[in-house]
Amino acid sequence: MDTLKTNVLYYGDNLEILRKYIPDNSIDLVYLDPPFNSKKDYNILFKENGGVESEAQIKAFTDTWHWTQTAENTYHDIVTSGPLKIAQLIGALHDTIGQNDVMAYLVMMTTRLIELHRVLKPTGSLYLHCDPTASHYLKLVLDMEFKTRHYIVLCEIRENANEASYSALG
Ligand SMILES: C[S@@+](CC[C@H](N)C(=O)[O-])C[C@H]1O[C@@H](n2cnc3c(N)ncnc32)[C@H](O)[C@@H]1O
Repeated sequence: MDTLKTNVLYYGDNLEILRKYIPDNSIDLVYLDPPFNSKKDYNILFKENGGVESEAQIKAFTDTWHWTQTAENTYHDIVTSGPLKIAQLIGALHDTIGQNDVMAYLVMMTTRLIELHRVLKPTGSLYLHCDPTASHYLKLVLDMEFKTRHYIVLCEIRENANEASYSALG
């Protein structure tokens, strides 16, 4: 895994793909649209010929997280082998928040953010799309992993054009 293969679409768990195929310091731009811990199911909805929504749909993914053996193992990996600051942060959050859904989500994201930092070039950029469910915890993880001085901006997206507008916050 010395050089990055380009024009390749990888399919599968991004943690395995990152670890297996993506070299250190090889990526200029990361854009993440990960699960948000929204506790919702997301479905692929089909439409009838006339454009109306069909009853048929496929569940695409479930954005609900629980403290399982996988979460426990991931937590253990982070606190024993992760970067020191991240290990301390996740250890402290685990001790205060406890072994619950948000912690399960956070360890899933943290282990992937560590890998994304490894593959990102020093000149690269990372954009993380999330919602307020876990954004404040994710900001802490990003600050520890990427250092606060590299943080540029929080952009808020207005989903509904009819709502009163609000501006991006620095
Ligand atoms: C918020 S959705 C983003 C969907 C996509 N950006 C779109 O607009 O259709 C999060 C996506 O991450 C996928 N996902 C969840 N865990 C993953 C993992 N470990 N590796 C790769 N993809 C994952 C889910 O299946 C889901 O499609």
